[in-house]
Amino acid sequence: MRILSGIQPSGEAHLGNYFGAIRQHVELQARGQGIYFIADYHSMTSLRDGEERRRLVRELALDYLACGLDPRRSILYRQSDLPETCELAWQLTTVTPMGLLQRGTSYKDKLAAGLSPDHGLFAYPVLQAADILQFQADLVPVGQDQKQHIEIARDIAVKFNQAYGREVFQLPEPHILEDVAVVPGVDGRKMSKSYDNTLRMFWPEKPLRKAVMAIVTDSTPVEQPKDTSQTLFQLWSLFATKDEREEMLARARQGGLGYGDVKKDLAERLLRFFAPMRERREDLARRPDEVEDVLRQGAGRARELALATWTAAREASGLGAR
Ligand code: TRP
Repeated sequence: MRILSGIQPSGEAHLGNYFGAIRQHVELQARGQGIYFIADYHSMTSLRDGEERRRLVRELALDYLACGLDPRRSILYRQSDLPETCELAWQLTTVTPMGLLQRGTSYKDKLAAGLSPDHGLFAYPVLQAADILQFQADLVPVGQDQKQHIEIARDIAVKFNQAYGREVFQLPEPHILEDVAVVPGVDGRKMSKSYDNTLRMFWPEKPLRKAVMAIVTDSTPVEQPKDTSQTLFQLWSLFATKDEREEMLARARQGGLGYGDVKKDLAERLLRFFAPMRERREDLARRPDEVEDVLRQGAGRARELALATWTAAREASGLGAR
């Protein structure tokens, strides 16, 4: 089974990235051939700084390797190391109805916000379809927000197969990461870089502790019962067993529990949980050539896996010499 997912390079990983995607990607490695790539082409639709893009790609590679992506087992590559993907995207573009892309939510959101979207954002789902279809991926683990993109990829695959009368592309299945914890940010909204409310697990200890202490709570006095639906308890629960969690929530409902103590304990647990990964990350960061090798070798293996489909698509659409 081939498992494929792309990750946008958008800054050092935070708890939302870890519990919402990285952890599942790492776990899925045991279930088939994992193919993970860093979507630097896609990031061009939102980031216009080349140096920054290179840096973000490196950081993300470090995060994944530190968190357990095993390059002997899985493939990790940089999207732009396979420029053939863009050629395939062009072929797919020519069978993609405008209406399909006009229904795209990120495109519509930008329109609704009064911004003028560029063609890159409009065509974003077509490039994503090429990412997926080139590997004949069986499973595409993504968050709920990406489900529409996988459906668009299926629609485009059907269109191409119909247009050229051959089953060039297999239809991919989204594997929605349902079971993922909702990770709120320190202000209670969804944890997101754009809200500036993240906890980055590889921050140095001091700023990390400080950020944990700044998690917003209500102002219920220590002795009174607490509302356990608060952000602080949700974050704390990420690092606790089921029993520990029940005990904590019972204590909170009883009263007598101070938020400061919960925060201190959360900081300890968080640091302990990520300690081995932090160590691996620091170690790898000292050997950038090794990380670059992983990406380069990953691209080589990915190219081998995609070659048959690239050839079949060109053959079907009559591109190049036979
Ligand atoms: N659009 C995805 C995101 O923002 C990233 C992505 C690009 C992707 N290509 C992909 C995900 C192919 C899955 C499969 O999260």
